Amino acid sequence: MIAGPNGRARLTRLATGHILTAALSAVAELGVVDVMPVGEPRQVDDLAMRVDADADALHRVMRALAAEGLFVEVEPRAFATTELGELLRDGPQSLRYVALLHGRQTMPLFCDIVGTVRTGVPVPVRREGRTRWDQLADDPEQAALFNRAMRGRAARLREALRAVDWSDVHTVVDVGGGIGGVVLPHLADERHLHGVLFDLPHVEADAKAAIAEAALADRCDFAGGDFFHAVPSGADAYLLSNVLHDWGDEDARRILGATRAAMQPDARLVVLEDLVPPGDDPHPVKILDLQMLVALGGRERSEAEFAALFAASGFELADVAGTGPYALVGRPV
Ligand SMILES: C[S@@+](CC[C@H](N)C(=O)[O-])C[C@H]1O[C@@H](n2cnc3c(N)ncnc32)[C@H](O)[C@@H]1O
Repeated sequence: MIAGPNGRARLTRLATGHILTAALSAVAELGVVDVMPVGEPRQVDDLAMRVDADADALHRVMRALAAEGLFVEVEPRAFATTELGELLRDGPQSLRYVALLHGRQTMPLFCDIVGTVRTGVPVPVRREGRTRWDQLADDPEQAALFNRAMRGRAARLREALRAVDWSDVHTVVDVGGGIGGVVLPHLADERHLHGVLFDLPHVEADAKAAIAEAALADRCDFAGGDFFHAVPSGADAYLLSNVLHDWGDEDARRILGATRAAMQPDARLVVLEDLVPPGDDPHPVKILDLQMLVALGGRERSEAEFAALFAASGFELADVAGTGPYALVGRPV
């Protein structure tokens, strides 16, 4: 079977995907959208001056991204943002840092994907003998970028949390909660709740700043620690949002084991994750799975794989709420 012209064009587009990742990252880095007034076109020469760029080069980058729906070239060399482009405008829920994360951190790791496909070992461990988390702990600037990207991504998890009944919960520990992208909006939704944001010690300053920014210092504390050793005890609910997918099964069982040890028998576990669907249809989780493979040595899982992981760690999978991403509710057994 020989692919026709469409097949060749499609394959070429796949082969050049990194160019769009890089163009998006450049626009995010320069803060182009931040100097564009909402709904009003701006001349590219003016934009270039404001963000300190070469006008011809910026025009070509914006033209390529306009073709992807981020901008509209309303008249020659004058662009306005679209709804999609507005997602890059800076702010706590902005996807600007997601674009930067992929351009600055993920893309360089993926240059080395073949070594990971041959060995199964993630790039940072092969290159430096240490995990991505160890690298971030030593690099405050990259860690701050990572945490902001996680906070930007977290907006999509809010609906899954709303699909769970929180009326009988008083205290929730967000295990590996980063700078609170998930738990802080949740505390704003559920005003009776108190939260503990639990993460590695190097996250403390940025996490406390985010708690203060959300005006939730009276209902949310930060606790620093290592979830392989101990998790704060005594809460009614334990949230693990996009944490288990960072790890292989053995490590994921250890994290769940430490969480289980911190829980009272009537407490509940809420795991927020995407689920790998059966079949060949495109799904973002299949791409995210490769990021887990290459950067962290983690994996995305199906519902059946989560059920098995829960069972091997002292939990039963009691409910799967939401429409994706999902809230997997576990009960200690
Ligand atoms: C993918 S991020 C998820 C952040 C947040 N829960 C969310 O959904 O946006 C994983 C988090 O696990 C934290 N983490 C990694 N290793 C840890 C450890 N050993 N103990 C505690 N937290 C850890 C990282 O610092 C990071 O904030």
